[in-house]
Amino acid sequence: MKIFTLFLQLAKSLGTAAAEAAPNGLSMSNVTRLWEGPSLATHAEKASAALLSGHVIAVPTDTLYGIAALAQNNTAIERIYEIKRRSSTKPLAICVSTVEDIYLWGKVTVPHSLLTSLLPGPVTLVFQRTKQLNLAFNPGTDLVGIRIPNEDFIRAVARCCSSPLALTSANISSKASPVCVEEFSELWSKLHAVFDSGHLGEHLESREGSTIVDLSHPGTYRLIRRGIAYEQTSKILQSYDLCLTD
Ligand SMILES: *[C@@H]1O[C@H](CO)[C@@H](O)[C@H](O)[C@H]1NC(C)=O
Ligand SMILES: *[C@@H]1O[C@H](CO)[C@@H](O)[C@H](O)[C@H]1NC(C)=O
Ligand SMILES: *[C@@H]1O[C@H](CO)[C@@H](O)[C@H](O)[C@H]1NC(C)=O
Repeated sequence: MKIFTLFLQLAKSLGTAAAEAAPNGLSMSNVTRLWEGPSLATHAEKASAALLSGHVIAVPTDTLYGIAALAQNNTAIERIYEIKRRSSTKPLAICVSTVEDIYLWGKVTVPHSLLTSLLPGPVTLVFQRTKQLNLAFNPGTDLVGIRIPNEDFIRAVARCCSSPLALTSANISSKASPVCVEEFSELWSKLHAVFDSGHLGEHLESREGSTIVDLSHPGTYRLIRRGIAYEQTSKILQSYDLCLTD
């Protein structure tokens, strides 16, 4: 009788597992829905624990889903390039949690108030890198793109890590940039964890990613990628008397 009950329970739990796996057959993947379970802060602690032990994870940003790892960990960065099958000459950006952190990794050329008027937001600011940034991170360039997404979870993760996150969009190079986790399901099995925040962005432009501007030369700005926030970004930069250059 007991054995029979045990068998029944086993069959039940297998049934549940199969049902969960059924939609796309990705039962082995580790997808956490951020709107379920414990608080966002608890999810963020788990994500940062994974990053601090060198894992690569997928996280939502204010534009796209990104792949993140610790910028200061060489093995983890190599793994990002492997997962994305991305040429390692293409630089990654870093993500930090506060405007103050920007000064640790980039040589800021603009007033503090300019940083706070653009960030947090869908804008990547490029500066000369500081010596503190891992030399093996983007070794081909003395510049670094810095991002503070307007998205609570990723900022909480960056804050818990107290270390910059290497960040890139969660698409395999040349594939469309993902605004929901299903769009990069082929990468799930390669990631330690996927943090799902549902469908990102109310508009299609979200796929264009952040606006990237090079501020490494004082008094000027150079557009690297138009992205989602070009109009408002250039308005703000011009209000600080920065001139557009090529
Ligand atoms: C799934 O992700 C969580 C959060 O990062 C982590 O604690 C856990 O170890 C992961 N599980 C597996 C099986 O990889
Ligand atoms: C870097 O990540 C690897 C795994 O990818 C891990 O074994 C190692 O402990 C990490 N090193 C540091 C310094 O965090
Ligand atoms: C992601 O997809 C976009 C097209 O939506 C493409 O422009 C971009 O190069 C891809 N990202 C990377 C880094 O592979």
